Amino acid sequence: MNNFDFHVPTDIRFGKGQIECLPEELSKYGKKVLLTYGGGSIKKTGIYDRVMELLKDFEVYELSGIEPNPKITSVREGVAICKDKGIDVILAVGGGSTIDASKHISCGAFYPGDPWDLVKDRSLVKKALPLAVVLTICATGSEMNSGAVISNEETKEKLEINTPLLYPKLSICDPKYLYTLPARQSAAGAVDIMSHVMEQYFQPNDEAYITDVLSEGVMKTVVKYALKTINEPDNYEARSNMMWASTVALNHLLTVGKGGAWSVHPIEHVVSAFYDITHGVGLAILTPAWMKYVLNENTKLRFARFAREVFGVEDVDDMEAAKQGIEEVKYFFKSLGMPQTLSEAGVDSKQFDKMAAEAVRTSGLSKRSYVKLEEDDVKNIFELCK
Ligand code: NZQ
Ligand code: ZN
Repeated sequence: MNNFDFHVPTDIRFGKGQIECLPEELSKYGKKVLLTYGGGSIKKTGIYDRVMELLKDFEVYELSGIEPNPKITSVREGVAICKDKGIDVILAVGGGSTIDASKHISCGAFYPGDPWDLVKDRSLVKKALPLAVVLTICATGSEMNSGAVISNEETKEKLEINTPLLYPKLSICDPKYLYTLPARQSAAGAVDIMSHVMEQYFQPNDEAYITDVLSEGVMKTVVKYALKTINEPDNYEARSNMMWASTVALNHLLTVGKGGAWSVHPIEHVVSAFYDITHGVGLAILTPAWMKYVLNENTKLRFARFAREVFGVEDVDDMEAAKQGIEEVKYFFKSLGMPQTLSEAGVDSKQFDKMAAEAVRTSGLSKRSYVKLEEDDVKNIFELCK
C-alpha cells in the first residue's frame, strides 16, 4: 500500500432539516454573504426562499445563472462581487457546477489578476474565502473535496484546480432536496458516482485491499439504488444512500493507499469542453468503451474481480467474467436511460483528433493511468463510441 495523508476538513451535516444550522454556522465568518446558484431550480423547489429566510440578518449578495459545466465568465462575475462588496463567506446552493464555480471564486477573490491564471498555475492560489454548500444534486462529490472544474469557452479547455484551500467548510446534504431532480440528472449523477469509484479502483497499484473493498461497497450501493431514485423520486432510503455514496466516492477515502492517474474523466472533460454535454452522459458512453479497450491478459483479473464483486457475475473463467462485467456496466447505464453513443449525445467525429490530443496533453493518461493511453488509443476509444 502506498503512503498517504488523509485530512478532510469539511463539516458534513447530513439529513432532513439540517439547513436550519445555516445562520449559526455562517455567522462564524461574518455578515456579508455571496449566495451563488444555477439556472433557477432552487427558486422552483423553494430552497431559495428558505435560505433567504434563514439569512434575514445577513447582508446577502447574489450570483445566479451559473451554468452546468461552469464557465470562467461566471467566475469572473463572482470574483468582482467579492472584491467590490468585501464578501466574508460564499454560500453555494446547487450541484457540482455551482460549487465548483464558487470554489474558484473563493480563491479568485484574493488574486489580483484574471482567475483563469489560477487554473493554469495552482501555486498562485494563496488564500480563499470560506465556502459553505447546500447540496441539491448528488454526483460530483465537490461538497467534500478540494477540486473545482471550470470551462473556458474561448480556449475550449475544461480544467481542474485542486488545492486544500478549496475544501468547503460546511456542506449541508439533505436527501429531500434531491426529490425534484429530473430523471436524466439523477441518472447522470449516478453514472458520475460510479465512474469516480471506478477511476480509483482501476489503478496501477492494487495492494490497498481495504480501499478496494470499501469501493466495491459504494459501487454496489449505486447499482442497488440508482434506478430506484428514477422510478421513485421521493424514496428517502434511495436518495439518502445515493447522496452519501456521491460524497464518499470522491472525498479521497477511496483513493488512499492507491495512486495513479484517472482514465475516463480526462477524456470526458475534453468532450464536454468541446460539445458542452452533461458530464455523466459523456461518462456513460465512454466508460464501457474504455473498459473494452484496456481489457487484456494483464488487466483481466481486476476486471473479473470487479464483475464478480459489484455485479455478482459467476463465470469461473476470468476473461469471460471480465467481459460480462463490461456488459453489465453497459446495461446498467442503459437501464438508467443514458445514451450509448456519442452521436446520440450530439458529438460528431470531426474533432476526434483534436480532442484526443487535448485529453493526453492535459492529463496523466499517457504516463500514470491504469493502462497508459496515447492519442491514437483515445481516438480508438472515440471510434468505439461513434
Ligand atoms: O442550474 P439549475 O437550475 O440549478 O439546475 C441544475 C442543472 O441544470 C439541475 N438541478 C440541480 N439540483 C436540482 C436540479 N434540478 C431540480 N432539482 C434539484 N434539486 O441539475 C442540473 C445539473 O447541475 P450541475 O451542478 O451541473 O450537476 P453536477 O453536480 O453533476 O455538476 C457537474 C459539473 O461538475 C464537474 C463536471 O465536470 C461538471 O462541470 N465535476 C466536478 C468534480 C469535482 N468538483 O470534484 C468532479 C467531477 O468528476 C466533475 O468533473
Ligand atoms: Zn465526474
